[in-house]
Order: sequence, then structure tokens, then C-alpha cells
Amino acid sequence: MCGIIGYIGPRNVVGVLMEGLHRLEYRGYDSAGVAVVDDGKVCGEKRVGKLSNLEEALKAHPLRGSVGIGHTRWATHGRPSDSNAHPHLDCSKRLAVIHNGIIENYVRLRAALAARGHAFASDTDTEVVAHLIEERYQGDLAAAVRSVLGEVHGAYALGVLSADSPDEVLFARNGASPLVVGLGQGETFVASDTPAIMEYTRKQLVIHEGEVVVVTRHGAEISTFAGEPVEREVTRISWDVRAAEKGGFKHFMLKEIYEQPKVVRDTLAGRIDDDGRTDLADAGLTDAQLREVKKVSMFACGTAYHAAMYGMYLIRQLAKLPVELELASEFRYSHPVVDASTLAVAISQSGETADTLEAARVARAGGATLLGVCNRVGSALARHADATLYTHAGPEIGVAATKTFTAQCAAMALFALHLARVRGAADPEELRQIAAALRESPALVDQALNADEEILPVARRYAKAKTVLFLGRHVNYPIALEGALKLKEISYIHAEAYAAGEMKHGPIALLDEAVPVVGIATRSPIEEKVLSNLSEAKARESRIIAVANQGDDAVLEIADVIFQVPQTHHLIAPIVNVVPLQLFAYHVADRKGCDVDQPRNLAKTVTVE
Ligand code: M6R
Repeated sequence: MCGIIGYIGPRNVVGVLMEGLHRLEYRGYDSAGVAVVDDGKVCGEKRVGKLSNLEEALKAHPLRGSVGIGHTRWATHGRPSDSNAHPHLDCSKRLAVIHNGIIENYVRLRAALAARGHAFASDTDTEVVAHLIEERYQGDLAAAVRSVLGEVHGAYALGVLSADSPDEVLFARNGASPLVVGLGQGETFVASDTPAIMEYTRKQLVIHEGEVVVVTRHGAEISTFAGEPVEREVTRISWDVRAAEKGGFKHFMLKEIYEQPKVVRDTLAGRIDDDGRTDLADAGLTDAQLREVKKVSMFACGTAYHAAMYGMYLIRQLAKLPVELELASEFRYSHPVVDASTLAVAISQSGETADTLEAARVARAGGATLLGVCNRVGSALARHADATLYTHAGPEIGVAATKTFTAQCAAMALFALHLARVRGAADPEELRQIAAALRESPALVDQALNADEEILPVARRYAKAKTVLFLGRHVNYPIALEGALKLKEISYIHAEAYAAGEMKHGPIALLDEAVPVVGIATRSPIEEKVLSNLSEAKARESRIIAVANQGDDAVLEIADVIFQVPQTHHLIAPIVNVVPLQLFAYHVADRKGCDVDQPRNLAKTVTVE
């Protein structure tokens, strides 16, 4: 995925574009570029690597103009390089195009364009769009763009700037490539994501799939690809600008880890009362609908998949419903059996992950009712779902998901409790106890953060490890998976997670004194089993790092290091237990000098399948 930005108005255009690109850099950071219209010409700069390279180039060659577009890239077609950086120009160099997504039929289009005499300056799929618009342009930019949209296939958000139309800039969206327009006084902003515009305006228009938006300094006109005008309600951006700042923390990831007590509290707020009674009316599913459900089918990617797995355990245990769980990227190839009695649950913080959206489409096509669990108001998932349970985590800038994960887990716990209560599936007293623990969880997450100082030296000690094994069972298995994912994605240390009981069936062969094992061994009905599994690892000379509760002597005997977390109901403990694993990964990566907020090769939201 990439980040795109556009601006037209009286401010310093390049300043607005660069500020926006900084806020979008989490979406891709292989290269970046800007283009403006100045004195009847398209002028631009683009550089491979981080935004700082582009900044340096702009210092040497400053640009000015009253309208401009910018792009930060996550490479798909064409390696990261200056020439493959966006914007891309047509042959006349009077048009500039930026793009997030993939033009699937670009090979054929490029060959045809080349045969007609167009010269290409990059290896990208995007450049064909500039040349196609060049061919179609006859004085009406919107008409030229529309005619090209009929020819290009794929998912995209496109931005088009023309020296011949300096009072407008055009954008178009097809598929999972988000686009929002920010409305100001005599100025208009466009971006892939709200944080890039929220410093300037609170008024936003969300652009949907299959729409073109013509942006001028006086506002935005939305229409379908066919040219039918579209009325769109202006929504208010409620996120705090400070949420997109580091606020004194060294990295966004660390700040977001520390925000977790608040985001869990916000996600629970108004949805669970003092007696533990849940109310999810805001999600839009009625109790009657929930009583009719015969099966739950869950899917998600990456971290969200781990939250879904936690949800799966809870729903099975509390609501006593059959639950299937699938990676969203596998869902549609696995011949899923869904029908009108299935509740499909798609979890995605961005609500824009292409694999998850595609799985959601397949589930709905099979007749399932779709519940989206997401963090983005107005995202594609929220728009396509029959009901949406929002997490209230605010914008997450660190590419590694942290606070959105705990918010998703809190949402899963809420949902499982609600389903169990509505269906009369569990002992009310048991539900009351779990609900009480859930209500208390923000305070416990806060306490878990206190272990930070003790985790730091441990992380330093293990920063040279080549492989780390993470073990957990039952509801803590997804937490082991999440701990391993965090470590590998930001520190590049190979990490594997196993259901602790599975270790003896193969992975135990990996163990020796050089392979530390992180085990989640908080109090639960299966704590002894987990401790046995950790003992098996210790007997193979592995150093044992245990996430455990205070005063648990049995763990003390086995573990070399303990990350202490407060005790709570074992079904809610995962929300607390993940905290030290996030901190461990963070400190290891920071110690190794890794780029914590923007790990190599990753993008925050993957809008390609
Ligand atoms: O926006 P989503 O929740 O759908 O994103 C899913 C994954 O791409 C995401 O969780 C990814 O695994 C993160 N890098 C994890 O830190």
C-alpha cells in the first residue's frame, strides 16, 4: 500500500504535502515524491528511501505552487528507486499521477502505449495511467480520467494533476484503497488517511469505491465513474490531533503501548454496566438476530487474526456456538461453508485490508450476516458490513499493531459475553465474574506497564538471540503468536509461536541454550500443563522467560526471568499478558537500532491481495 495526498489552497503547498506525507509514511516508505503546478508547468521531486531524502532534495531545489500532489510508496511493481517513485508523468510532462494499489492489466496497456510511441520512464504499473490520460485529454481532465478508468483494472486510489487544469486536482477510487477529502475555508485536502488532514480541518468526506472526486479550493464534487453526481454527508473528525504525535515518546509504538489502558477503557465505555450487563446496540445487531445464529465464522489477518483467535476461544466457551477461524487470505480458497444462519466476523483495525474485505465479500455472498470489528469509522469494512462493532483505539501510526490489538481483544470479550448472555448459554454468575474482570482490565493493563523497567535489561540481554520460541495455551496461544509476530516484525529476530503442548511434537528439536523460550504461564486451569511444557524446554538448556503472576512459586522454580503481570480471570488475562511481550519486542528492536515504527518491507495496511 502507499500513501497519497493532495492540496489546493493558499498555504505553502509543498509544506502541506510534506506534513501529510509524514503522517502517511507508515503506509509505505520505499520512496516518496511531490508534484506541483507552477507557472503553467508541472514541477516535482522524488527520491528513493525515507521521506528525509525527499526533504533534502526539496531543500536543494525548492518548489512552489498553489496545487500539488504527493506520494509515499510501498513497492509492488518495480523496485524502490528514484525513477519508480511517484508521481509519474506523461510524455508531455504536463500531467502527474500518483497511485495506491495495483493496475492489474498494466502489461498489456503498457505494450499498446509503447507501440503507439509513448516512452516510459519507470517500471511501475502506475505510469500507464499518465500516458492513457495524455492520449484522452481534450481540454476536460475529468472526462479524460473517466474514460481511462473504464480501461484500467484493479484496486486503486489515483490522484491526477495537470498543468492545463491548475484550478483542480482529480482523484478516483476503486476497491480497497482509502481516500478522504478534508474541507477547509478556501482550501481542500485529500489523503489516504485522516491523520494527514486532521491538523487543518475537522470536516471530512469519505470517498467510496467507484467514485471520482474533482477537488477545487472551494470544495469537492463527487461522482460515479459513469459521471452520475453523488451526495455525500460531511462527517466530523473526532480524533485528537495529539493522537498522531509522539507526545514525548521515542517512538509511536511505545506511545501506543502506553495508551492501552485508555483504549481498552474507551472500547468498553457504555457497553458494559456495573452489573456486567453488556449492551452492544451501537453495533447494530439485534438480540433476536444473535439468537438465530447457528455458527460463527471468523477471519482476519496478522495481529487482527490473533485477536480473532482469542474471540474464537471465548465464543466457543461462553456462547457454546461452533466457531470456525480462518486467515482472511485463505478464507475464499478454503471453500467456506456459510449460509444465512452463519454470523461472519471480520476483524480489521483499518477496515481496508484487501484480504479481509475479499473474505467478507465471499461470506456475504454465501448468505452470512457480516459483523465488522474495526477501528476506522467509514472504512470499507464498516460500509460493507451488516453491523459494525467499533474499537475506540484512535489512530495507530506505528506499523506494528499494539493498542488496536488490545482494543480488539476487549471487543472480542465484550462480544462473547454479550452473545452468551443473549443466548442464555452460560451461568449468569460466571458471566458476571468475567465481565467484572473485563471492566477492571484497563487498570490491570496499566499495572502491567509498570514492568517496563524490568523488561528493558532483559531485552538488552536477549537482543542478540537468533531465534526465540513463544509458548502459550488456550486463550494465551494467540498471545504467544502475537508476541512472536511483534518480535519478528520489528527486531527481525526469527520467532515462532506454538501452542505449548505442540512443542514436543517437533519444535523441541530446535531447543538448546541459544534459543530462549518465552512462556505465558499466568494462573489458569491449565497453568500446570504450561509449566510442564516450560520444564521440557528448560531440560533442553533453553533459558525460560515467563509471563507470570506475582507470588507464583511454581513458575519461579522453572523460569530464569519473570515478566510480572497482575492476576485476573484467566479468560481476560490475555488482554494484560500481551503487554510485556509488546514491551520486550520494542526494547529488543530499539536496542538493535531497528526502525521500530517503520520496519523494513512492511506496510501498515495491506490493500493488495
Ligand atoms: O488493518 P488490519 O487489522 O486488517 O491489518 C491486519 C494486518 O495487516 C496487521 O495486523 C499486521 O499484521 C500488523 N503489521 C501487525 O503488527
